[in-house]
Amino acid sequence: MKLFIDSADINKIKMLTEYYSIDGVTTNPSIIVKEGKPFLPLLKEIQSSLGVEKELFVQTIADKAENIVEEAEYIQKSLQGNIVIKIPVTSEGLKAIKLLSGIGIRTLATTVYTPLNAYLAAKAGANYVAPYVNRIDNLTGNGIQVVKDIVEIFVKSNFNCEVLAASFKNTQQVLEVCLAGAHGVTASPDIIEAFLKVPSIKENVETFSREWYELYGNKSLLD
Ligand code: G3P
Repeated sequence: MKLFIDSADINKIKMLTEYYSIDGVTTNPSIIVKEGKPFLPLLKEIQSSLGVEKELFVQTIADKAENIVEEAEYIQKSLQGNIVIKIPVTSEGLKAIKLLSGIGIRTLATTVYTPLNAYLAAKAGANYVAPYVNRIDNLTGNGIQVVKDIVEIFVKSNFNCEVLAASFKNTQQVLEVCLAGAHGVTASPDIIEAFLKVPSIKENVETFSREWYELYGNKSLLD
């Protein structure tokens, strides 16, 4: 199962990729704007800390399919490496996904709220769909169930499209989409860091060290 960082914060990206096995970075216009930096230089900076073999997801902003395609081609030619174009699942977005799939540009259908949104995107040739788990929950829907239903449709229809669950408020939601069969998750640095926030780990490690040093003094394993 893939793990992506949903952020454009260079320091966080550097730290998380140094310590954990991360598959790439997802961005959207809100995430980019938050950094207050020019668009392409920021993406190039992200890519150089990430490495060109990892996937970098960049979202288009145009409304019309033809303009979305134009933006996708521009992003693709301006950045080296493994780029996936994120496109919202409007009807124009779906048309753009279909056109881009025809010319070999990889896409992720974003702002997915229902299994049928995902179904249309997979039919159009999207490589990924991103159901917005917490935003669905906020609408009194059931984000985890939406992920489960999408996974079931994709398996039954044999779609070659991955479910990249997105929008999380807590680690429990991440755990549940993993169990629901999502192919990947994208989460903010805070949520990823919270995977390891178990006070018992630190307590246990302290006990191991204390007991070791009580018997062997200051000697390490290598002495
Ligand atoms: O990748 C999707 C995403 O950025 C939306 O997440 O936390 O703003 O609902 P959130």
